[in-house]
Amino acid sequence: MKKNLIFLGIETSCDETAASVVMQDSKGKAKILSNVVSSQIKIHKKFGGVVPDLASKAHADKIDIIIKQAIYKSKKSFKDIDGVAATAGPGLLVCLMVGMTAGKTIARFLDKPFFGINHLEGHALSAGITNDISYPYLLLLISGGHTQFLSVNKFGNYERIGTTIDDALGEAFDKVAKMLGANIPNGKIIEKMSLKGNPKKYLLPKPILHKSGCNLSFAGLKTAVMLQIKNVKNNKCKYDMAASFQETINEILRIKCSKAMDMFLDLQPKLKNKNFVVAGGVASNKSIRNNLIKLSRSKGFAIIFPPSKLCTDNAAMIAWAGIKHYQKKSKGNFNVESSARWPLDPKAPFMKGPGLKL
Ligand code: KG4
Ligand code: ZN
Repeated sequence: MKKNLIFLGIETSCDETAASVVMQDSKGKAKILSNVVSSQIKIHKKFGGVVPDLASKAHADKIDIIIKQAIYKSKKSFKDIDGVAATAGPGLLVCLMVGMTAGKTIARFLDKPFFGINHLEGHALSAGITNDISYPYLLLLISGGHTQFLSVNKFGNYERIGTTIDDALGEAFDKVAKMLGANIPNGKIIEKMSLKGNPKKYLLPKPILHKSGCNLSFAGLKTAVMLQIKNVKNNKCKYDMAASFQETINEILRIKCSKAMDMFLDLQPKLKNKNFVVAGGVASNKSIRNNLIKLSRSKGFAIIFPPSKLCTDNAAMIAWAGIKHYQKKSKGNFNVESSARWPLDPKAPFMKGPGLKL
């Protein structure tokens, strides 16, 4: 058997064109040999959101050079690659297809296996690139498109125990950043503004805080910010609103993560190592990190965050998930198709829209 496994990962599910080369050594340790991410923020900025056709075009314009850079920076060559993994979903179909086509073509040409990866699985396993984490673990996935609590029972077995019933947390951050006039409406700017603001200035709602288990809801909170925005007239008020919003999120997460931990322990009564992984773009927020570190300590959980670069979208997590799939079934699958919707837990009910019973 070959000592080291080397995978090329490709990510184009939304507005980041990314490629990465990841190696797993004979002891199972990961090493990121390159991790190239090209953001399309400048392209979509003036539209206030991601425009699918423009995103797809930008991926197609750049994917070859991003892959070339990833290979070059890794100091490897295409002939060293053992397999190729590309994000197959969920995401924007026209975007996914760019990375999938590039990945399949390279794999065919190299005569190596190809793996179509679930982007959420990439996030779910991302902490394993830098940390040894034993299964099962509790996962809070907080990104721009998804917000879920999952019991990661083992590789390939994900049990959803809670979800947002409306907006994803990253989406709420983005929309509030936009209301506060941010040039680039992103959660990062809210985090920065919050440092200068008073978190107690505005009282904001915490929807479904004490009901519906560890399900979450952010739409009402976002609307409350919108209704109060007329009072936000100067920079001081903007900073206060950003800080109040972030503080409210922290309070919601404190209660809901505590509930999720209890629910997770009910599912895993004999568990020895209580691990809590927080992944996805919002997990790079330092205030949220500190808040959840404190909570985990009080609940006896070890908390693990991927490094910031691996929280936001990247292809290293896709390459890593590809390696895990390869180790389970080395043949790969060229027939996998891109899918806009691809839940990690196929048995979990759809939890959005009218008629929802909490
Ligand atoms: O995981 P990700 O890169 O993409 C998706 O899979 O959606 O997450 C992007 C989300 C965006 O909504 C962005 O505003 C949010 O992560 N985000 C943050 C921070 N950095 C990125 N939210 C709060 N604080 C941050 N520092
Ligand atoms: Zn993501």
